[in-house]
Amino acid sequence: MFIVVEGIDGCGKSTVASLLAAEIGKKRPVFHTFEPGHVRDGLYRKLIMENVDNPFVVAALFTVDRAEHVEKMIKPALAQGKWVVCERYADSTLAYQGYGMGLDKDLITRMNEQAIKGLWPDKIFYLDIEPGLALARLRNKEKDALEGQGLEFLQRVREGYEEIARARGYVYVDATLPPEIIVKHILEEVKLL
Ligand code: TMP
Repeated sequence: MFIVVEGIDGCGKSTVASLLAAEIGKKRPVFHTFEPGHVRDGLYRKLIMENVDNPFVVAALFTVDRAEHVEKMIKPALAQGKWVVCERYADSTLAYQGYGMGLDKDLITRMNEQAIKGLWPDKIFYLDIEPGLALARLRNKEKDALEGQGLEFLQRVREGYEEIARARGYVYVDATLPPEIIVKHILEEVKLL
């Protein structure tokens, strides 16, 4: 089972994914992972942060990070029978670089196809939150160059996710609920409760 958690910055994705992986781990072997930066100890993430003004370079680096992540980490974990919980995946590039930064969406789709080679998640959970609230949550957090792009940017990204969600059949989750409740809902959806 391959599970992806998506959402805008400040939606609480990492907290939910960690809790979810811990709960799944009580019943099944699990691999908790994330994009960007799990492969090569964050090498591509570092390069991305140095190139945030260039949407094409950013999208290319995110998709290269993804291609290696799929080949070297996700596929082997699935092949070993593990459940994979992944924070962000192909749609993050479409939402952030396509809708947020204005890069050609068809180009991103083609780059994603090359990166994942047909490996779509079994379930994508989308933690929905209003961007103003998400930014308020992040107020005291040290932000990297991508996270500091402001309200209008996050609004475009959220609108992107809403369109993608319809095409991809996301499971919507209210990100303002307590993480334990969100995880319970996800476990029910994947039939582990
Ligand atoms: P993170 O906060 O989930 O670690 O992600 C780092 C930032 O990178 C976050 O602002 C979302 C952004 N991002 C993209 O812009 N495109 C992508 O393809 C991915 C995976 C993340």
